[in-house]
Amino acid sequence: MVMNRLNIVILAAGKGTRMYSNKPKVLHQLAGKPLLQHVINCAKLLNPLKIVVVYGYGGDAVPQAFMHENITWVEQIEQLGTGHAVQQAMPYLDEDATTLILLGDVPLLSVDSCKRLLEQTEELGLLTFIKPDPTGYGRIIRNSEGIVTAIIEHKDATSVQREIKEVNTGIIATKNKHLASWLKRLTNDNAQGEYYLTDIVAMAKLEDEIAVREIADDESSTDGWPGLSNKRFTIATEISHDEASVTGVNSKKDLADLERTYQKRYADCLLQAGVTLLDPLRLDVRGELNVGKDVEIDVGCVFEGKVTLGDNVKIGAYCVIRNAVIALGTQIAPFTHIDDTQIGENSRIGPYARLRPGTRLAADTHIGNFVELKNAQVDVGSKINHLSYVGDSTVGKNVNIGAGTITCNYDGANKFRTVIEDNAFIGSDSQLVAPVTIGRGATIAAGSTITKDAPADQLTFCRAKEQKSIAGWTRPVKTKK
Ligand code: UD1
Ligand code: MG
Repeated sequence: MVMNRLNIVILAAGKGTRMYSNKPKVLHQLAGKPLLQHVINCAKLLNPLKIVVVYGYGGDAVPQAFMHENITWVEQIEQLGTGHAVQQAMPYLDEDATTLILLGDVPLLSVDSCKRLLEQTEELGLLTFIKPDPTGYGRIIRNSEGIVTAIIEHKDATSVQREIKEVNTGIIATKNKHLASWLKRLTNDNAQGEYYLTDIVAMAKLEDEIAVREIADDESSTDGWPGLSNKRFTIATEISHDEASVTGVNSKKDLADLERTYQKRYADCLLQAGVTLLDPLRLDVRGELNVGKDVEIDVGCVFEGKVTLGDNVKIGAYCVIRNAVIALGTQIAPFTHIDDTQIGENSRIGPYARLRPGTRLAADTHIGNFVELKNAQVDVGSKINHLSYVGDSTVGKNVNIGAGTITCNYDGANKFRTVIEDNAFIGSDSQLVAPVTIGRGATIAAGSTITKDAPADQLTFCRAKEQKSIAGWTRPVKTKK
């Protein structure tokens, strides 16, 4: 078929009763994205003219979660079956196009399977799967020549039909002009009282038989042009061999199983690309992880959004890293959290560091344990090694910030910046009350509360002048009751 006349309909109206959740099923997340987002992403890779999503349970919550996508939304107020769902989409489809019907709860669908199905589809094409335990699925009925004649739903199937292991994945492609006429003729006269989309298969087969008969009649007549107008209806099948890619999520167990499959596959790709994973089963990528050469990742790390790791980057155990760029040679020690941050080359971060949005670290920086940085720009060679908070700050080159230093960036209403110029040294347990500037080469004595700018190259301190000792002082003791 011609790939550029394609419509895609995604069925996503179901409640997902077995999820035991108030949230519509297609909004549950796999690898950090709603199930429906995975299906939309697959659909977009097929370059359709339009994507129509049929939604229902949960009302506007579903369309609202996908405002960023170019989707035609169609509400199915009552869920009367898959055929009824596609009927709702019919007015929005292009008459001369082919429609591929996808399910919103089959998140790992393979683009290649869809392409192969579409390539084979003339009038109607089915993506099928051989399932050792086919319980619950629609069975693919073939005649003695192997030609598909119908799909029979599990609940309507005879005990002999239930032995059939080839099942309908629910993914179906068909020419719109046929689809429109078949859908009009659906009835709900079946075990579930639903309008089954799958009944269109038997209708197509029937029309094919009529066409065969007409061709035969034409050939026996002496005057007409044999068979020219009587097109046969072929029902193509593409058999998937990848169970995960055609598996629908019905329960939290299914969701967890598919999540593991997804993560295992992602880890295998990373291994293939040369990354060292100390345990590929203990890695979670909920977005996109780009890696250079000789990258090493220890166990239990979570990557979210878009993360880029340069050559020779090492990530210690149990780090959570979101939307970050980490340049070559940098080492992140265990239990570090990094969010919307860029880190230059050969830096040392953690353990237990927290880098919050807007943080930009240049090369050769050291950020140590229990240090929190927020919207802080730190230049080459600077060190903040212990128990500090540096927020809304500009830190120059080769600055040393002592243990327990805090930038007081917030007065309860507004935020202010702290500027610490090159080569400054901030003694331990100092508070820098913003807005404030510490000049180039300045030294701040330990324990100072700095409220005014500190001049360059001078020692500035602000603490009790003298150290006092009180002789004969005794510690209070606990009074007995
Ligand atoms: C359907 C197929 C079955 C196939 C199976 C694969 C039909 C009649 N049966 O069965 O052959 O083996 O999927 O998983 O098509 N939906 C709506 N509106 C509705 C009903 C369903 O949008 O009124 C959506 C659901 O949200 C779901 C999908 O369609 O995403 C499939 O519906 P479901 O009820 O799960 O169909 P099955 O009985 O599993
Ligand atoms: Mg189902």
